Amino acid sequence: MLIAQITDFHLCAPGALVYEGIDTNGHLRDTVRRLNALSPRPDLVLGTGDLVDHGTVEEYLHLKEILSALEIPIYLIVGNHDDRGPFREVFGDQPYLRGVSGKFLNYAFDAGGVRLIGFDTAVHGVSYGEACEERVAWLDAELARHPDQPTIIFMHHPPFETGIWWMDASRLRGSHRLAEVVQRHRQIRRIWCGHLHRSIFSEWAGVLCSISPSTAHHVSLDMDGTAFMEMLMEPRAFHLHKVEADGRVLTHTVNVELPNERYLPGDRMAGGLDAFRARYQAMYEQMSSGAL
Ligand SMILES: [Fe+2]
Ligand SMILES: [Fe+2]
Repeated sequence: MLIAQITDFHLCAPGALVYEGIDTNGHLRDTVRRLNALSPRPDLVLGTGDLVDHGTVEEYLHLKEILSALEIPIYLIVGNHDDRGPFREVFGDQPYLRGVSGKFLNYAFDAGGVRLIGFDTAVHGVSYGEACEERVAWLDAELARHPDQPTIIFMHHPPFETGIWWMDASRLRGSHRLAEVVQRHRQIRRIWCGHLHRSIFSEWAGVLCSISPSTAHHVSLDMDGTAFMEMLMEPRAFHLHKVEADGRVLTHTVNVELPNERYLPGDRMAGGLDAFRARYQAMYEQMSSGAL
């Protein structure tokens, strides 16, 4: 099963720009086109928060309109730029949200033999996230219902430090609560996050966690703390996860833009591209047969 994880679209009202210069609306349209054209096409898409920039009904209606061009089912969770009320008003009719009641937008579903859990980490009006007692208790109970099914959690705020201090200031609070539950339920294979606007991997609570890059603007690689609030137009990208039924996961980073030119050095190789391909096919078959 192929799962595309797109995150931090920060979509605006039609015609508006983020930080007075970033066309996040156009970026999301490009991303939808790229997803539809992927081969093989992903089985589903996860949108891991900061779906819109200001959490208004107008923005969510615009998001719904842009996502209507996506030819793959998409599941959304909220981030710190979202607002549950307006989000529910516009997206509450989505099948995966219909049974969700209460304060938080937590839900779980099966796909390709794997359990996927959307975990709501948002706190209204602030940029940091929280794994509060109520949410962690819900997660604990959900995990206890499917102890033998490989499980992946997707959520907006990462629970680990990234070394970019000003983004770490708004990471997940109460992560010790979450860690206790994650360590106890051994069926969890991965935790997928957003919020940092960069591709980052780390082991946390015994699980490999990853942060997908943003389909819009990026946070500067700022390991010495000198680039406060610097947003860069690095290549817009997302994570493409290949998930096996036993829970093994392989993750690629996919850029939204393709380069204009393709370079095929095989044409200049001895014997031409076909002979080159035949040599590699033979090598691959040897590797796959276990002969080497
Ligand atoms: Fe964001
Ligand atoms: Fe965020």
